[in-house]
Amino acid sequence: MSVIKKVAIFGAAGNFGTPITAALTRAGFEVTIITRIESESTFPDGIPVVRTEYTVEKLTAALSGQDAAISVIGPGGLHAQIALIDAAEAAGVKRFIVDDFGWGPKFNSLPEFREIGAQRKVTYDHAKKLCQANSNFTYTGITIGNPIDWAIKRFPLMGFDVKQRSAVIYDDGTVEFTGTTLEGIAQAVVGVLKHPDETANRHVKARSIQVCQNQLLDAFQRVSGQPWEVKRAATSDLLESGRKKHQGGVSGWILELLVYQLFGPGGRCIVASKEDSDVDLLEMKEESPDDIARKVLESVAN
Ligand SMILES: NC(=O)c1ccc[n+]([C@@H]2O[C@H](COP(=O)([O-])OP(=O)(O)OC[C@H]3O[C@@H](n4cnc5c(N)ncnc54)[C@H](OP(=O)(O)O)[C@@H]3O)[C@@H](O)[C@H]2O)c1
Repeated sequence: MSVIKKVAIFGAAGNFGTPITAALTRAGFEVTIITRIESESTFPDGIPVVRTEYTVEKLTAALSGQDAAISVIGPGGLHAQIALIDAAEAAGVKRFIVDDFGWGPKFNSLPEFREIGAQRKVTYDHAKKLCQANSNFTYTGITIGNPIDWAIKRFPLMGFDVKQRSAVIYDDGTVEFTGTTLEGIAQAVVGVLKHPDETANRHVKARSIQVCQNQLLDAFQRVSGQPWEVKRAATSDLLESGRKKHQGGVSGWILELLVYQLFGPGGRCIVASKEDSDVDLLEMKEESPDDIARKVLESVAN
């Protein structure tokens, strides 16, 4: 495949879209932001912004001349993705990065998440079908697992209350999971676009670290230079509470069951070992527990 230079991004002002857009610009891609007519998002100066209706016809015009398109739209906009894919193919875009940034199509999730997974799979299968019919059109999904520095800061239920210097350690704190930092997520996108042949028509596996809660707690104490208050909790309580909320249609179940999946028995949240992942191809660096602690502490201080 020829070199990818011109890249359009949907969701550029989002949690992940912001660092991805910055990394694409730094890496020298010619970036265009595509956004909804009704969007109230704000974007960095100096990057062209195309505001359009999300119909296939209008999106095809917006994507004309682009080599690649990246979908990082939030969960509320995932229904739009089929139109984005159809438009990219019609516009002659060579690579479409589908909106995964999660656990990938093969993840063994709790049954409560299977409907969400199935909705995403519909879009992956749609992209796959178009790529089989048109050899000039290709897709990639990027599986990142837990967006570790962002998630720890955003969700104290993950066990670390950074402002209060206190932690909740679930069970014995030794269950490992893989995480990708915001920097790693952005580098994974850059890596896919720099290596289009090796990343065509598949989900790539990204990771910055494999770690457990105890290692993160040690790192937070070391980097902050002070002991943290530690409480204990049971993942079985998260499972019970999350399931009760899910059955009763009460909000909050998603986070409780996600944290259960992360720290509960079985260690199901390892995307891949370093060797089985795509980190070398994507030019991602392995980060240490101290790197994660430093990133979270700095982002909370700013
Ligand atoms: N692995 C994990 O644990 C994890 C955690 C968080 C997110 N994710 C995944 O990462 C992806 C991006 O998530 P995010 O948190 O970065 O997204 P976000 O910040 O919630 O939203 C990103 C952008 O999506 C666009 N958008 C929002 N609603 C839309 C709609 N109804 N129709 C079309 N576009 C809409 C908006 O862009 P404009 O205003 O410019 O149109 C918005 O700025 C999602 O697939 C999400 O599920 C995974």
